[in-house]
Amino acid sequence: RRAAIIDCDPGTDDALALWLALASPEIDLRLVTVVGGNAGLGRTLRNASAVVGLAGAVVPVVPGADRPLRGRFAGERAVHGDDGLGGVMLPDGPPPVRALAADAIRAMLRASAPAATTLVGIGPVTNLALALATEPDLAGRVREIVLMGGAWGEGNWTPSAEFNAASDPEALDILLNLGVPATLVTLELTMQALVTPARVAAMRRLGGGACLRAACDILSAVPPSRRLGGEGHPLHDPCAIAWLVAPDLFHAEKAAVQVDCAPGPARGRTHLDRWGRTGEPARVTLPWTLDADGFFALLGERLARLP
Ligand code: BDR
Ligand code: CA
Repeated sequence: RRAAIIDCDPGTDDALALWLALASPEIDLRLVTVVGGNAGLGRTLRNASAVVGLAGAVVPVVPGADRPLRGRFAGERAVHGDDGLGGVMLPDGPPPVRALAADAIRAMLRASAPAATTLVGIGPVTNLALALATEPDLAGRVREIVLMGGAWGEGNWTPSAEFNAASDPEALDILLNLGVPATLVTLELTMQALVTPARVAAMRRLGGGACLRAACDILSAVPPSRRLGGEGHPLHDPCAIAWLVAPDLFHAEKAAVQVDCAPGPARGRTHLDRWGRTGEPARVTLPWTLDADGFFALLGERLARLP
């Protein structure tokens, strides 16, 4: 059972990722920190509390950055709706903790044994970068960093960058250069987790409680992706949790990764070097292929355990 902190911006797929983590005994979720991203911070914070509350979990939810290290967040309304959850109404959760995410992350790491806490980032990684850049010794308390973000081919926000990486490339660059083992679950992997009407119907048949029903409603509310031929949409963030819970569903490779922080059309792209062309060591783990049927079976089975 790994102690973990999840930093998120719910976000339709963030909601499912939180529920998957809360339903999985392999993960001991100690703290949820929230960043602006898919919607404004006020929204993502309310959504994170509501998601945790619906699961009946007692995990502190702490607000963080409402802007990236540079510039501002744009929001991703076309996918997640104005409210961040595709219009699916959840009851209000417990009030968020009155603290700042970066402080809460640092406090938890200070109390952690060496190399014991897993950091999971499923939004722009501003909070995680602020926490560690201001006290780099705390990197020694981190077991590993697992992030959903990045694209080495076509992006989903700009032509060459994925949304989370494009939202705060400087923060991502900081995290990937801490010297801590890092896993990057890029768009190339998450595009394999295709949500189809048949998969949602199979999840609904599992019954479950309010969380599984809300998860299915959320999945049904996200518009199909043109890039995937309109057949469904990719389920990004739960892939990062599944990597921790069931790594056998994945085949992974290692590469050197460089985050493009320069202004211009490639800003936010994650350049991969698998073959040592840059002379940089291949330090970042990249889940490369996914057993999608196994992934959706896991998601349904776990979410059906929740209230
Ligand atoms: C990422 O961006 C957000 O829209 C999703 O929640 C996910 O974290 C995918 O590019
Ligand atoms: Ca997200």
